[in-house]
Amino acid sequence: MRARCRRCDSALLDIAQPDPHRRADTDRRIAVTQLPAPAEAPTKTILRALQGEAPAVPPVWMMRQAGRYLPEYRATREKAGDFLSLCYNPDLAAEVTLQPIRRYGFDAAILFADILLLPQALGADLWFVTGEGPRLSTITSEEDFARLKPVHAIDETLSPVYETLRILRRELPAETTLIGFAGAPWTVATYMIAGRGTPDQGPAHALKTENRALFEQLLGKITEGTIEYLSRQIEAGAEVVKIFDSWAGSLQGDDFDRYATEPARLITETLKRRYPGIPVIAFPRQAGEAYTRFHQATGADCVALDDSVDAQWAAENVQIHGCVQGNLAPRHMVEGGPALVSETKRIVQAFSKGPHIFNLGHGITPEADPDNVHRMLEAIRS
Ligand code: CP3
Repeated sequence: MRARCRRCDSALLDIAQPDPHRRADTDRRIAVTQLPAPAEAPTKTILRALQGEAPAVPPVWMMRQAGRYLPEYRATREKAGDFLSLCYNPDLAAEVTLQPIRRYGFDAAILFADILLLPQALGADLWFVTGEGPRLSTITSEEDFARLKPVHAIDETLSPVYETLRILRRELPAETTLIGFAGAPWTVATYMIAGRGTPDQGPAHALKTENRALFEQLLGKITEGTIEYLSRQIEAGAEVVKIFDSWAGSLQGDDFDRYATEPARLITETLKRRYPGIPVIAFPRQAGEAYTRFHQATGADCVALDDSVDAQWAAENVQIHGCVQGNLAPRHMVEGGPALVSETKRIVQAFSKGPHIFNLGHGITPEADPDNVHRMLEAIRS
C-alpha cells in the first residue's frame, strides 16, 4: 500500500516522496544562490579526501568527540542543566563543539546535537534518563502517526541548532571543516517506534511485518524531515553532512536495500541537487559485506566503517568506490598501550592508497582516557 498525503489524501508514490504541499524546491534555490560558491580546489584536508584525493597523512576527527570523556564537556553540560538544554543552547552547544578542536586540533568539528532532536521537532516527546539513555513517546498506530506535526514545522524547534552552526562557522579555525548530521530514517524510526534504544530493534521489525504501510509512511516522513533538516544545516554553514544509520546492521537482504540504502540515496541525491557539490558521509553501521553495494548505490562521497570491518577487505572492496572513514575500535581509547598505536598505524597503512578520513568505528565512550587521543594523533601523524 502506498503512503498517502495527510492533507489531501493523494497517494505518495514511494516511501520517500516528499509531501506535495511542501515548500517548492524553487524556494530553496533562492537560498542556494546566497551560499558562498564552493571553492574550485578545497584546501581543507577533509574536503580534499571527500573529493577522492589520497592525502599523505589522513585527516582525522572522532565520533562523539564532544562528550563525557572530556572534563570541560562535563562542566559545560552541568552549566546547561541537562543534555537536551545543552543541545538547544547555541552558545553552549558551540562551546562544547569547539572544546575537542582546541584540545586536539582535529580536522573537523561535528555539530553538537542529537539524532533524536528531529523526532522531537516532529512532535514526539523526548527525554533522557540518566544512565539509561533516551525515552520517547511511541508510534505504533495510525493515530500516533497522525498526531505528528507536518515536516515544515520542524524549524520551530530546531532553529537553535541552526544558530549553533552559524556561531561555529564564525569561530572555527579556517582549516577546520564543519560537519552537520542527522540520523538515518531507519535508525530514527527504531527509536520512534520503540520509544527507546533496543538491542535488536524488535519493535521496529515487528511494525514492519505487521503494518508495513504505516512503517513505510513513518520512514517516508522521517526521510522528508531529514532532507529539510539537513538543508537548513547546510544553509546555516555545515560544509559536509553525515547520516548516522547506527542500526543498519539489523536490516537483512531486501530490507537493507529498501530501508537503509534507498533513503540514504534519496537524501544524498536531493541534497546534491539543492546544494551542488555538498559532500555526504553515510554510516550504515554493521552493514558487513553490504558496505560495498551501499557505497555504490547511495552516491555518498564517503562511507564510515564500523570496527567489525576488516580494513584490508574494505580497502579492496569499499574504498575502490570512494572515500572511507574509520575504523579504529573505540575500546583502544580506553585501553591505550601498544595496541592503540599498532592498530592506528595498521588502519592508516591499509587505507593509504586511497581517500581516507581517520576516525573510530563508533563513538568514543565516557570511560576513554583523553591522553589516549593524543597518542592516537601522534601515531597517525608521525
Ligand atoms: O559526535 C558528536 O560529538 C556530535 C554529537 C552527537 C551526539 N549524539 C551527542 C550525544 C551525535 C552525532 C550523536 C548521534 C547519535 N545520537 C546517534 C548515532 C550515532 C551512534 O552513537 O550510534 C544515536 C543512536 C543517538 C541517540 C542517543 N543520544 C543515545 C542512544 C544516547 C544515550 C547513549 C549515551 O551515550 O549516553 C544519546 C545521548 C548523547 N548524544 C550524548 C552525547 C554527547 C551523551 C549525553 C550526555 O551528555 O549525558
